[in-house]
Amino acid sequence: MSSFDPAIFSINSRFDSDHLTIGGVSAIDLAEQFGTPVFVVDEADFFTRATHWKRALEESFGPHAGTVYYAAKSFISKEVARWVNKIGIGLDVCTGGELEVARAVDFPAARIELHGNNKSEAEIRCGIEYGVGTIVIDSFVEIERVARIALELGMVQKVYIRVTPGVEAHTHEFISTAHEDVKFGFSLASGAAWQAIELIKKYPSLQLSGLHSHIGSQIFNSDGFAAAAKKLIQLLARYRDTFNTELPELDLGGGYGIAYIPGEVTLDPYIVMKELAGVITSECAAVKIAVPRISIEPGRAIVGPTTTTLYTVGTTKEVELDGGLRRRYVSVDGGMSENIRPALYGAEYLAIIANRNSSPEQVNSRVVGKHCESGDIIIREIELSRDLGPGDLLAIPATGAYGRSMASNYNHLPRPAVVAVIDGKARMIVRRESIADLLSLEL
Ligand code: LLP
Repeated sequence: MSSFDPAIFSINSRFDSDHLTIGGVSAIDLAEQFGTPVFVVDEADFFTRATHWKRALEESFGPHAGTVYYAAKSFISKEVARWVNKIGIGLDVCTGGELEVARAVDFPAARIELHGNNKSEAEIRCGIEYGVGTIVIDSFVEIERVARIALELGMVQKVYIRVTPGVEAHTHEFISTAHEDVKFGFSLASGAAWQAIELIKKYPSLQLSGLHSHIGSQIFNSDGFAAAAKKLIQLLARYRDTFNTELPELDLGGGYGIAYIPGEVTLDPYIVMKELAGVITSECAAVKIAVPRISIEPGRAIVGPTTTTLYTVGTTKEVELDGGLRRRYVSVDGGMSENIRPALYGAEYLAIIANRNSSPEQVNSRVVGKHCESGDIIIREIELSRDLGPGDLLAIPATGAYGRSMASNYNHLPRPAVVAVIDGKARMIVRRESIADLLSLEL
């Protein structure tokens, strides 16, 4: 039976007697005022989670704590960038567009890290001119490109090298790969990472300060991060042996897992940071280098659990399956255009009826969208009350990361609004797109 689960909904969500409230605002009022589908972000929860990651890094690494860079790709808007700035953490941007959001709110440039495997000349120029703290270099082509643009602008740009450490992380396990068949970074095993280091050292307009790796996303234990850190520390030791000086920084990327469905447990930042600090400290001691400043880039772990999508049910329909079983299709007023994750990754979600108490009798259901595509499924299989019907509100929690940020206009559906709730008040931070917005693109 699907019911309110405090481990999955945002911290300030409750099911009060007969309806869902988020940040003290009733889901019914939110749907009435802002329409559906709508992304509802629990603002205080965003601050709480981001602050915990900052504290966990600081407490675990002490003087060796670097920066928590919030990964903008998970979800960014001007207001979210202001929150990130207020919390005092950094911002990882991986396109000129994400950088423009930061610029639009005067986000402190020194706390921005510019990523991307195919940064254009314009994006690099914009980043260096704005004064981004770090550019993470991803390819040989880019070494020359960043060096040349920095030189033209009369700047010395701090850079990291993105290293592919040969650790491939999956949700619950990690496997080491002999060859690194991905588009990102410089492979460690093939020697490309070392060649990149040697090349960067030849450019006076580049200041190599550290190494970076990102092993994957939605990872539930620290083993993969620790394995990557160990490999990077070996590279730091080789650097010291060769150049007789040490690289002071190490960025271990993002990827910390969160709970989407009952039974899953969101990774505890204090536990994972403490475990990593232990491994990194002993590995550095073993190769006799100073512990570098450690930075991380969580996106999902900060914003994912803060947000709930509210939908209105439009139609229901029962179909007969093999063996006489029945399935009820519950169609909502959005779908794969604002949540592509189930279709793209087989991601799983929870849904509850948000506007009332419903009958205890449950029906095997599939929650689908309104797109003209049979793969337009939000929840493949879930037990939902028999009396669920048109006009009911469905709430799907943990949609803050890679929901609105990956939304499309498939079938000319306008992308939903994002509403921030806090202390019983709701305000729109990104307005709903209109059909007029879409038509305005046409000439
Ligand atoms: N840093 C780098 C270099 C990354 O590539 C990513 C994610 C992150 C940080 C943040 O990872 P997070 O902490 O959010 O897991 N669309 C997929 C996830 C793609 C992640 C891409 N890179 C999804 O919906 O699961």
